[in-house]
Amino acid sequence: MESLVILISGRGSNMQSLLEARAQIDRVTVISSNPDAMGLETARNYGVETIVIDHRSYPDRQAFDTALAECIDAYQPKLVALAGFMRILSDRFVQRYQGRLMNIHPSLLPALPGLGTHARALQEGIKIHGCTVHFVTPQLDHGPIVIQAAIPVLPSDTEETLATRVLQQEHLIYPLAVRWFMEDRIIMNENHVEVLDSSICEITLY
Ligand code: GAR
Repeated sequence: MESLVILISGRGSNMQSLLEARAQIDRVTVISSNPDAMGLETARNYGVETIVIDHRSYPDRQAFDTALAECIDAYQPKLVALAGFMRILSDRFVQRYQGRLMNIHPSLLPALPGLGTHARALQEGIKIHGCTVHFVTPQLDHGPIVIQAAIPVLPSDTEETLATRVLQQEHLIYPLAVRWFMEDRIIMNENHVEVLDSSICEITLY
């Protein structure tokens, strides 16, 4: 049985895009670090089991990560997908799930790691912006890249319009990346993404 755990903290639109495309996945569980996350209700509407592990209930990052890992391990997921999960994870946690921990980030990494990517893209006069799905490694937003989608930054763009257009692309590429992994078409090998199915190379070019 192929199982996927999705970690969220808020709105959950990327989670929703994964739930829409979950065809090959037998069991999906959503874990939120925030009891008020909007995505929890969305997940329940899809009939998906939801769990809250409130980071504020734990004295430090290590204690939170330990509780989170215990919860995740009960489901023995093939993949853990971060979908707007806004907690920095400890190296120990990341190493525990090395090669089966993915993230979606709203920039063309390695450009603009961290928060506030759309405002920074505008401030820096970047002409091509986008989003990246990558495997998670201990260095924040630096893991091997699975797929990216690029969009032009228009002279009329504001932070909001840019965020909206990038998010539309996020909803396209994250389900693809997750499906490729769940179907054993890509793996993380050493510090690279190994493509095991040559037919997917063409789809990675946006
Ligand atoms: C998305 O844009 C995602 O890429 C970003 O947060 C948003 C969550 O939206 N993630 C990060 O910035 C991670 N560092 P969502 O809850 O609607 O998916």
